[in-house]
Amino acid sequence: MIRVLFVCLGNICRSPTGEGVFKALVNNEGLSDRIEVDSAGTAAYHIGEAPDPRSQYAAKKRGIDISNQRARRVIKVDFERFDYLLAMDNKNLASLLRLCPPGSEHKVHLMLDFGKDTHGQEVPDPYYVGGKGFEVVLDLIEDASKGLIEDIRTKYL
Ligand code: 4NP
Repeated sequence: MIRVLFVCLGNICRSPTGEGVFKALVNNEGLSDRIEVDSAGTAAYHIGEAPDPRSQYAAKKRGIDISNQRARRVIKVDFERFDYLLAMDNKNLASLLRLCPPGSEHKVHLMLDFGKDTHGQEVPDPYYVGGKGFEVVLDLIEDASKGLIEDIRTKYL
């Protein structure tokens, strides 16, 4: 089993979207028995909460239901359990690398490094922006998800 963890700050916008989009892709590719997907936040502000209603609505418009997800915080054992810990922005990346036990740094990436033309870029936080921000998040994550599944296929499947 290959395990993928999407990570943002609050675990109520970007990483739940990553989890939902990537799970849907994994299911469509018939890989749900090979790839496990989860998400978490680096901060504790929203533990136990459902995704932001605006994220839920934007995902639903693309046929993805993320309403059952509940926010949790990244914990140390995530670095043992997961093969990919994918940060949505550089701040998340820095937080993950601070928490990361020595020797597991290779598991930590910026999510958009897997996108076609988005290497080194960040998924912008839509929490304070609203509106189109949630669509932008979905577009960026959908593109990078395709690259991510190819990376997993090449390395592990
Ligand atoms: P996320 O967005 O990291 O994409 O879940 C945020 C949600 C909440 C907060 C910040 C970002 N907050 O400060 O409460």
